[in-house]
Order: sequence, then C-alpha cells, then structure tokens
Amino acid sequence: MKISIIGTGNVGSALGKGWASKGHTILFGTRQPESEKVQKLLTEVGEGSTAVSIPEAIQQANIIVLATPWNVLAQVTQSVNDWQGKIVIDATNPIAPGFQLAVGYTTSAAEQLAAHLPGASVVKAFNTTGSENMLDPLYDGEPITMFICGDDADAKTTVTELAESLGFEVADVGGLETARLIEPLAMVWINLAIKQGLGRNIAFKLVHR
Ligand SMILES: NC(=O)c1ccc[n+]([C@@H]2O[C@H](COP(=O)([O-])OP(=O)(O)OC[C@H]3O[C@@H](n4cnc5c(N)ncnc54)[C@H](OP(=O)(O)O)[C@@H]3O)[C@@H](O)[C@H]2O)c1
Repeated sequence: MKISIIGTGNVGSALGKGWASKGHTILFGTRQPESEKVQKLLTEVGEGSTAVSIPEAIQQANIIVLATPWNVLAQVTQSVNDWQGKIVIDATNPIAPGFQLAVGYTTSAAEQLAAHLPGASVVKAFNTTGSENMLDPLYDGEPITMFICGDDADAKTTVTELAESLGFEVADVGGLETARLIEPLAMVWINLAIKQGLGRNIAFKLVHR
C-alpha cells in the first residue's frame, strides 16, 4: 500500500520503517523534505521512500497517518481542501503542557479532527503505545495490543491489516466516539512509563480466557 506519513519524528519514523520493511511504499509529508534529518531518515527507511511537502503527501496517497503534535493538526489539515475517500489514521494525543489531556469526556481529538475532514474516514490508532513498541511489538514473542476505533468498517479493516503487518494484535474498541476512551488510555501509558518511572519498554495487552 502507499502510505503518507505526516511528521518525521518518533512515531512517523517508527511506522515508516516498519511498514517499508513489509513492502509498503512510504511518502513522508514534512516541513523540510530536503533537511539532513529527513534525508537520513529516507536512507534508514529504504528504497522507495520519499519526502515531499505536507499538502503533496496528503494529495498523493489514500492512507494518511497524522503523526505530528496534536496542536498543529488544524494547520496540517487545512493545507488541503479535498479529503474525500481518504483513510486518516490519527496517532496523535491531545496533550497539554504538564502531560495533561486537553480534550475529553464529551468529545475527543479524533472526533474533532473528523469534523474538519468531510468525506474522510478517521481511524484512531497507534496512540496508546510508545514509538519503540511500534518498531518491535513483540514481548516474549507475544504481540501487544493496538487499540483502534472508527466509524468506517472498511477503513478499520485496512488499519487492522497495517497494524498486524507490524506485529500487533488489534482490538477494535468501537465507533470513533470511543476515542474518548482510547485517548485517556494513552495517558495511562505515559503516566506509567514516565511519571511512575517504569520506562518505555511497557505495553498493554488484552488477554482472553
Ligand atoms: N512518541 C511516542 O512514543 C508517541 C506514541 C504514540 C502517540 N504519540 C503522538 O504522536 C504524535 C507525534 O509524536 P512524536 O513523538 O513522533 O513527536 P515528534 O518526535 O516531536 O515528531 C513530530 C513531528 O511532527 C512534525 N511537526 C512538528 N511541528 C509541526 C508543525 N508546526 N507543522 C507540521 N508538522 C510539524 C515534525 O516533522 P517535520 O519536522 O518533518 O515536519 C516532527 O518531527 C504526537 O501527537 C504524540 O502525542 C507519540
């Protein structure tokens, strides 16, 4: 699949490397395609990956991953008018200074995003675990869980395939409204990893019996 990843930081790099290694074509949307940082990333991601401006990346693929700080999403999404038919994977977390959740209870960052992208199918995913886990989602050989949600079943099937190709198992939490649950779950991971000092080699796994 051809996947445009907006943002070349921790999450964008990890997802790009992972998917490129599975044969997907990666297009990074970045503020500085020619920068040394981005050129180095392209060599790490491998042949076939390219970097272009953010609007170009959004226009050139039907699967778009948003991996920027949440507070610049409006700027990113307004750079393109036509989002019709695109699958938008929202990996952002609405974090305010002091690691506080900025949105919640009666709405979510993902729902607010979807309201600005008519015709697009927004799927919340890749926000509840650290970027290191995106590169290696196996713990003792067992896949950790990627929680996803969204209103479009076909889009969720595509995102499930993409997450599974990285090695995750996927738990579909429900419609996009359940991003109100998944976004705070990311705060649990952040609190455990950073504030409680467990470190970044931790992950959530849904167990069954
Ligand atoms: N870090 C994690 O483990 C983790 C895990 C799950 C979810 N998240 C969420 O995923 C998102 C990205 O996290 P990250 O750790 O990858 O952040 P990061 O390392 O700071 O990277 C964010 C990237 O966004 C782009 N960006 C920054 N400011 C921008 C602007 N004004 N306009 C357009 N693009 C801009 C930059 O790419 P260019 O310089 O190439 O433009 C930057 O490298 C955040 O919302 C975060 O909450 C993070």
